[in-house]
Amino acid sequence: MGGRAVEAAPPQSSGAAGSSVDVGLAFRTAMSHLAAGVVMVTSRIDGRPWGLTISACCSVSLRPPMLLISLGSHTASASSIDTDRVFGVTILGERMLEVAEFGAAPGSPKFVEAFCDVERAGREALRTPLVAGGLAHVECDVVNTVVAGDHTLFIGQVASVVLSGSDAPLLYYSRGYRRISTYSQADLFPLL
Ligand SMILES: Cc1cc2nc3c(=O)[nH]c(=O)nc-3n(C[C@H](O)[C@H](O)[C@H](O)COP(=O)(O)O)c2cc1C
Repeated sequence: MGGRAVEAAPPQSSGAAGSSVDVGLAFRTAMSHLAAGVVMVTSRIDGRPWGLTISACCSVSLRPPMLLISLGSHTASASSIDTDRVFGVTILGERMLEVAEFGAAPGSPKFVEAFCDVERAGREALRTPLVAGGLAHVECDVVNTVVAGDHTLFIGQVASVVLSGSDAPLLYYSRGYRRISTYSQADLFPLL
């Protein structure tokens, strides 16, 4: 209850008394408190596997199975997926920090051949690159796109699911990569 509401103000504005907070900055801080799983979105650019690290990925429907990703509209991934109408999502495990960092480097090429399992992708008849060592790979055909501010939402109908690992997931929270930790018995049942 002691929290402070932040009102929308024009960017850069500091308010009449210099007291209002930039809502964009406050929004980023607020979202930094939301822990998220990390995935690599895969597509092809010039026929080569390309992977972008994102956290804005969620399931939207079970019948039929559908999934949503949100990509910066400026990204090469957004352009390639908009053209090809198909994308892959490999869910990253806690041992895949190197992959996550590679796919998140701003402005750098994200060709991910070195991280891909071509043999498995062939066996599963996938059209999208599958990142080796992931917990699962979901391939989707784009059924809808929505431009939202500086991002584009791609809603995909699930075409294939490859289940691979039983590793723990990689998480992102408070501007850093994290691992899962579980509650102890004492945390769960403090009165016992
Ligand atoms: C943990 C994490 C989550 C991210 N989530 C998203 C996301 O949901 N959507 C997005 O477009 N970019 C996301 N990014 C940023 C992209 O990985 C990438 O840095 C950015 O799009 C710039 O790439 P580019 O310069 O190659 O276009 C995330 C980065 C990190 C580290």
